[in-house]
Amino acid sequence: IPTPISPIDSSVVADSFVFAFDIDGVLVRGGRPIPEAIETMKVLDGENEYGMKIPHIFLTNGGGKTEEERCQDLSRQLQREIKPGQFICGHTPMREMAGKYGTVLVVGGEGEKCRHVAEGYGFRDVVTPGDIIKHNAATTPFRKLTPEELANSRDRDFGEVVIDAVFVFADSRDWAGDIQIMLDVAMSQGGRLGTRSEAFDEGPPFYFSHNDVVWSAAHEHVRLGMGALRRMFEITFEDLTGGKGELHTHAFGKPQVSTFEFAERLMQTWRSSEHGISGPPQTVYFVGDTPESDIRGTNAINDVADSDWYSILVKTGVYQDGTEPTYKPRATVSNVLDAVNHGIQREM
Ligand code: G3P
Ligand code: MG
Repeated sequence: IPTPISPIDSSVVADSFVFAFDIDGVLVRGGRPIPEAIETMKVLDGENEYGMKIPHIFLTNGGGKTEEERCQDLSRQLQREIKPGQFICGHTPMREMAGKYGTVLVVGGEGEKCRHVAEGYGFRDVVTPGDIIKHNAATTPFRKLTPEELANSRDRDFGEVVIDAVFVFADSRDWAGDIQIMLDVAMSQGGRLGTRSEAFDEGPPFYFSHNDVVWSAAHEHVRLGMGALRRMFEITFEDLTGGKGELHTHAFGKPQVSTFEFAERLMQTWRSSEHGISGPPQTVYFVGDTPESDIRGTNAINDVADSDWYSILVKTGVYQDGTEPTYKPRATVSNVLDAVNHGIQREM
């Protein structure tokens, strides 16, 4: 614990604790910063009564762009620089799957962005729903590619293609078309489009970058998220196959313990490269708004981690004040600034 100095000298760095922040519903809502978020960043950068910088990382289930682009957006929203070395989004851990599969179908996000993210991760052969619709426009009766999508989608002979895995990188912009194509792949003979399996038990695995049924956007009420798309896909598969088929679906993101372990490794690298601190911190304060993702995951990593992962729930997003959260945080506060002050007070 650093010695207090005055008035503000940000040469002191907290070495026993760090913060990790969820983004939507904690720092940002509908693309705009939550009012207390900008002040919070200043406190972390040393504008606190101890003149102490506090190491911190960001862990969101969102995605759809490269980590660099997401950090540029967040830097603009929070009015200070945020670097990819302190940032994890829903699809970041999918990077580790790149070598495992040959051809993958990547679903979600704007235009070609997620294809570029996947290729940047090292996935060798990435197809998109646009490529499939370009090959056979009858795939999605009510979804026509725009001239731009037609130009960007790639020509493939899907008679020759075997889809080895499906990765839902970001929220679908066309649920009907994407669910249709995912079902076609799931019900195919081993990932060959245009075929139908007899037992519906030979489709490739499906990976979702997270499982949030709802999330906190600009609307006053929560909005449907990727977990809802996953449910619709799974239930429709069950209906279409009379419950006899076999589907393999997996989720990354929070609350998966593996995602928090990934965050732990990134956080230690960040503390060491940015702040010159080695070894794990005593306490990681995780600030989130969604009990099912943020609080559940933080409490679960706490059972296995060396550091004490301390969950803090805020009231600016999914969680509604006055309700009983399904997973219990160690503390509940109004907003992200109160969360940081709560952590600092506990430490000092
Ligand atoms: O689509 C993003 C959303 O489900 C959650 O984002 O930042 O609250 O983890 P976040
Ligand atoms: Mg959130």
